[in-house]
Amino acid sequence: MPLKPQEVAPNNALRRHMLAWLADAMHAQETGGLSWHWSAYRARHAWASSKEAIEQFLLTYKPQTHELLLIGGSAGWMMSSKWLSQFKQITIIDIDPLARFFFQYVHGGALKRSGTTWRFERRDALQELPLLLKMHPNALVFFDNVLGQQCIRLKDEALVERILSRIKQTLNGRAWGSIHDVYSGPIDSETLPTKVTPITPNKISSFTCQLGAMTHGMPLIHKGIDKQTALGPDTDPEADSQPQHMVLNGVKKSFEDGSQMLLQAVNATGEWKDHLSVEVFAPNTPSVMIPWFFKPTYCHWLQAGFVQAQSH
Ligand SMILES: C[S@@+](CC[C@H](N)C(=O)[O-])C[C@H]1O[C@@H](n2cnc3c(N)ncnc32)[C@H](O)[C@@H]1O
Repeated sequence: MPLKPQEVAPNNALRRHMLAWLADAMHAQETGGLSWHWSAYRARHAWASSKEAIEQFLLTYKPQTHELLLIGGSAGWMMSSKWLSQFKQITIIDIDPLARFFFQYVHGGALKRSGTTWRFERRDALQELPLLLKMHPNALVFFDNVLGQQCIRLKDEALVERILSRIKQTLNGRAWGSIHDVYSGPIDSETLPTKVTPITPNKISSFTCQLGAMTHGMPLIHKGIDKQTALGPDTDPEADSQPQHMVLNGVKKSFEDGSQMLLQAVNATGEWKDHLSVEVFAPNTPSVMIPWFFKPTYCHWLQAGFVQAQSH
């Protein structure tokens, strides 16, 4: 006997829910999940120097609140337990349902010792950002290597640029920070140890950085990164926007020259990916650029910064 629609619907909804849960547990829409936890666990020693540089950056910021809203926290493989321990209460938001178990494994002990309570919620933090801000009106908001992943998850360049460039408006007045991929691509690791940025623990070159305001309608290097060799000339006529300039270690450069300097610092080769995140921070926001040698032959440039709360 055929089932009536009302008998089928709940089963279908449950099935869809379970499949979505499982898919996010495996890959988190290509931005995390079991595959991330496995890679991060295996690479924990290789990533130690980037993790240390991230910790140094985080510890420069003195939070004015005891509450942290950690977005895309995952297990916090790259996160500093020492920095987290300053907070009394942490809420971790991630689409990966397994993140809570791995977070307990990585940070549970340290947070127990510091008396920090934490809880996990499985949500799409970008879709629900206004709601999350209302639920946590006093929390420092930190996007933990999640914004640069949205181009991989959403696969719609215009949509991603729109979402990322609006985040600062949604957070207007709040204290917040982010660490995110700006570019990533292959490196020539054969020659790297003899050059400016040896991949040795305790010795990676990070840069202080400020990006200028966006200029529209100009040819640009970062749009070309996806399409051409990173170190080749930029002549992409379809490119639409780029920051006007880049201040690296206090020296103002054209955006092209600054990008080249970052690429050369890690011996970039071949085609690099643009993570569409150059508009996350407002122009001239102080930040640091940290190289993350994801694999022996593949590097990410992470941008990390904080924005102070403004009183109205
Ligand atoms: C590269 S991993 C983050 C790594 C993490 N910060 C660490 O140190 O282990 C990106 C994380 O963002 C999560 N994520 C991606 N898009 C998200 C969204 N819209 N809302 C919440 N979490 C998201 C993924 O599930 C994944 O755990």
